[in-house]
Amino acid sequence: MAQYTRVSGSVGLITLQNPPVNALSAAVRQGIVDTVKRALGDPKVKSVVICGQNGIFCGGADIREFGTNMSGPPLVPMIHAIEAANKAMVAAIEGSALGGGLELALGCHYRIAHSKARLGLPEVSLGLLPAAGGTQRLPRLIGVPAALDLITTGRHVTAAEALQLGIVDQVTDHSTVDAAIKFALSVAGKPLDARRISTYPCPCPPDLDALFEGVMQKVRQSARGAIAPIACVQAVRAAATQPYVQGMEREKELMATLFTSGQARALQYCFFAQRAVSRWSMPSGARWDTSKPRPVYKAAVIGLGTMGRGITVALAQTGLSVVAVETQEKQLMEAKQAVSGMLERGSKRRGVAPALDKISYSPDIRVVADADLVIEAVFEDMALKKKVFQQLSAVCKPGTFLCTNTSALDVDQLASQSRNPELVVGMHFFAPAHVMKLLEVVYGSQSSPQAVATAMQLGKKMGKVSVAVGNCRGFVGNRMLKPYVEQAFFLLEEGATPELVDGALEEFGFPMGVFRMSDLSGLDVGWKVRKAQGLVQPAAASGQPARIREGHRYSPLGDLLCEQGRFGQKTGRGWYQYDKPGSREARSDPWLHSFLEEYRARHGLVARRIDHQEVLERCLYALINEGFRILEDGIAAGPEDIDIIYVFGYGWPRHRGGPMFYASLVGLAKVLERLEHYHQAHPDVPNLQPCSLLRRLVASGSPPVHMWREVVKKLHSQL
Ligand code: NAI
Repeated sequence: MAQYTRVSGSVGLITLQNPPVNALSAAVRQGIVDTVKRALGDPKVKSVVICGQNGIFCGGADIREFGTNMSGPPLVPMIHAIEAANKAMVAAIEGSALGGGLELALGCHYRIAHSKARLGLPEVSLGLLPAAGGTQRLPRLIGVPAALDLITTGRHVTAAEALQLGIVDQVTDHSTVDAAIKFALSVAGKPLDARRISTYPCPCPPDLDALFEGVMQKVRQSARGAIAPIACVQAVRAAATQPYVQGMEREKELMATLFTSGQARALQYCFFAQRAVSRWSMPSGARWDTSKPRPVYKAAVIGLGTMGRGITVALAQTGLSVVAVETQEKQLMEAKQAVSGMLERGSKRRGVAPALDKISYSPDIRVVADADLVIEAVFEDMALKKKVFQQLSAVCKPGTFLCTNTSALDVDQLASQSRNPELVVGMHFFAPAHVMKLLEVVYGSQSSPQAVATAMQLGKKMGKVSVAVGNCRGFVGNRMLKPYVEQAFFLLEEGATPELVDGALEEFGFPMGVFRMSDLSGLDVGWKVRKAQGLVQPAAASGQPARIREGHRYSPLGDLLCEQGRFGQKTGRGWYQYDKPGSREARSDPWLHSFLEEYRARHGLVARRIDHQEVLERCLYALINEGFRILEDGIAAGPEDIDIIYVFGYGWPRHRGGPMFYASLVGLAKVLERLEHYHQAHPDVPNLQPCSLLRRLVASGSPPVHMWREVVKKLHSQL
């Protein structure tokens, strides 16, 4: 809806009304059309102000209308009519003007913004482009390079930057509507021809072709297969090279292609999935979001290695007091320096003072006594962690939540060491913990809804995307990663190279393939854990390590590299070679190729030709298959939870919607058929046997992804 009143005698005031963000729903568009008509027809009105209720101008299109038969007046002619009006139209921008909201403001003749307002065209993040003239008006207003930056990244700008770029005419610290009314009075009756952006020539730098070529190359690289940023460049190019009317045609055409692409659907799915994961319920039916989280003022971190340092930084940046405990003197010294450095760099970037005084350090665990919540991040060693939990249970004040950052160990075993197992949960951060967005909150069999709620709330405060998951080895993310990585190893045994496997996965959209990633994080990390668990088998009598473990094929390739001291980037050699230890540029290594050939020869393996499709099917479908098992086991509440974990924690390309959404897009029947095919071809390779939930879904006609929860529920009720 939109409300109309006349103020100050001659200013028509139109207020958009559609909580929470005044999205441009059919009713709002109709309201705008009607009220603009009224204002223009009112002889007493000389100029018009458009604003939004509740301190927000407009958050853009109503995303819930996407994919429906949109009724109501279309945006483009509506904005055009505003621009063509013969009375001055002034946008009063408070809160935000995003997407269609900014396009509406660009149709106005003047824009006044509050100093705290944010403006942007974020359509690209939903797989679309600003299709209500945004790609044509913005470059005409602020020039091609600046418009390309905003439209291809979707980034929001502050009012100050918007003023500097020329998007807004005035910024105020006071009431924006009052300032806009005053402004509207001052421009009433003035000529408007020079204020209609669509009539502007597009200001272009001299070598336009070179500019677009450069931008296109950059965008292609960072888009990792996403098509919307590329379409955005094409649309802006039309603004720069064609008259407005043709440019609008091009914008429409490109939008139509994007709209029907699977990518836009995937990105919109992610948008909603991200919101859905915060409304999670425990299998017992207790909802964590109705259980009141307890406030956390003081947190403690135990163990200041890679993870503990990042977690300390993230907590301090959230404004919490942190006590950080590390038993090794040298580590403690190094950690202090590293944490201060990270905080200083972060604060420079964010333009705030570093939160150095929020943190106190100690080698003595007793200092955590008055913390509200403790996060343990010591070595991945169950015996050590158990000891730490016993100590924590003894020293902490009653009611302190005890959290573990373990990446795979059993949260229940740790909880059993505490006097209050209901206060124990997993808080699984990802490296680097102050940067990565994902947090898996792991509930054990005794964790109370309040403990889960508190961890989820703290994650949210820290700016993380928190997903609550059940307790099993590796939880959701790492449990699914295992079969994915294993398939990559088997593919090497069968004839592939790290370059081939990584090439296929990176072309799919992962920032790094399995082997480049493994070189980055260090091959020795998993090796040490496997050795500690007794899983690294000594060479058999033949002098070769066994390739069968617990009845399944096992690839010892990673162990063999570690035995040679090839730990990845840190040693300058791994699956690739590096110029020097620590260098990041992976180069193909002939030694590795000969090593693989010798390995195959020793084990009587005949290399065969493997193509990208097989790499994708083996690695991704094995991972997806495990995802179905996780749903079956009730470890994730729904496919959305798995997808958000993969998009935010594991580099799964967002425009492919996460593994479970991707499976639904490929077609569950196809995923099932390919898994069956590979399982028959390699019966000893683990994780290729399709799981029963996948079979069941296919048998019930492959319902869309949002209906899987129901199928799982039915499955559980029949057990
Ligand atoms: P790390 O080896 O870098 O650091 C562990 C630190 O704990 C060391 O500084 C050690 O001196 C300290 N420590 C050991 N016993 C202690 C005690 N009793 N009291 C206080 N400090 C003690 O290990 P990292 O990589 O930081 O891993 C920590 C935990 O986080 C592990 O459980 C790991 O599985 C998990 N994790 C690791 C990720 C990674 O990428 N490195 C990602 C997610 C989780």
